[in-house]
Amino acid sequence: MRFFIDTAEVSEVRTADELGLVDGVTTNPSLVASSGREYRDVVAELDEFVDGPISVEVIATEAEEMLVEAREYDTWGDDIAVKFPMTREGMTALSQATAEGIDSNVTLVFSANQALLAAKNGATFVSPFLGRLDDIGSDGVELVREIREIYDVHGFDTEILAASIRHPSHVKAVAKVGADVATLPPSVLDQLFDHPKTDEGLAAFLDDWGDRESPAVRELQGADDD
Ligand code: E4P
Repeated sequence: MRFFIDTAEVSEVRTADELGLVDGVTTNPSLVASSGREYRDVVAELDEFVDGPISVEVIATEAEEMLVEAREYDTWGDDIAVKFPMTREGMTALSQATAEGIDSNVTLVFSANQALLAAKNGATFVSPFLGRLDDIGSDGVELVREIREIYDVHGFDTEILAASIRHPSHVKAVAKVGADVATLPPSVLDQLFDHPKTDEGLAAFLDDWGDRESPAVRELQGADDD
């Protein structure tokens, strides 16, 4: 399963990239607005080092205007996925974008039937919003499982991009039900590392080792002395 980073803060993507864990980035209008930067500048900077798709979302609500945006955003980087909302206008624009070879990500997906529509129109990615479904007492992970089943039964290539992830349990759950990608807020990626037994175990190893040098350092010092 690939990890995308769900942020418009370039420094956060760099930090995750240094960990070797960035397969792409997702942005949305809210994230870019809170960064206080121009959308194009954020994407240009990400495009310099991100090895994978960068999702850029249309702002328009009419299909023709969405397509104007999509064609422009598609020039902003080597691997752009244009985000279209799951609306009738969004699906009209998606159909044409697919015909033009523009990669896409259908966003604000809350039902299996919506995911079916996105796949039928050739979406590259579909983004079910787990956290927002959980917020209203529904089951976001179950939605991912249903979409996986439908796509597998019918052989759709559209990749399932689990979005609106709020905590590490979501990551494990969508990995188990077969999401192709999870887009993680940097804070959730950070939480995936943590386990008190890891900290406790490492502290004990280092305590037992005491103030001896590392064997590698000793080897290097020996080589220097020769
Ligand atoms: C990603 O593509 C989505 O825009 C994002 O995951 C939404 O997350 P939120 O529901 O926490 O805003």
